[in-house]
Amino acid sequence: MSYFQRHIFFCLNERESGKSSCAQSGAQAGFDHCKSRVRDLGLAEVGGVRVNKAGCLHRCAGGPVAVVYPDAVWYTYVDNSDIDEIVDKHLKNGQVVERLVLSDDVGL
Ligand code: FES
Repeated sequence: MSYFQRHIFFCLNERESGKSSCAQSGAQAGFDHCKSRVRDLGLAEVGGVRVNKAGCLHRCAGGPVAVVYPDAVWYTYVDNSDIDEIVDKHLKNGQVVERLVLSDDVGL
């Protein structure tokens, strides 16, 4: 068994150049909500789920973005209900939330 079953990485990058970035699209709020929901559900234990901050994940056009490993599933989200769905379905039960999956053609 791996140390954590899943990691979710949230891009929290803010670009100083003025180009759009996840930080301008509510990434910190999404990260904070995910972290507390995972903790509240008792998932933040060894063998469970780790919620991590990340810099730019190179998919800025779809921001805010987060990626779940080892499943390599990329998400975009709008609000806390989207985060709740990712936590409850994917992080807890391994079920991909198709409606929030980032399209393969989204990059910078
Ligand atoms: S700023 Fe978030 S993926 Fe680049």
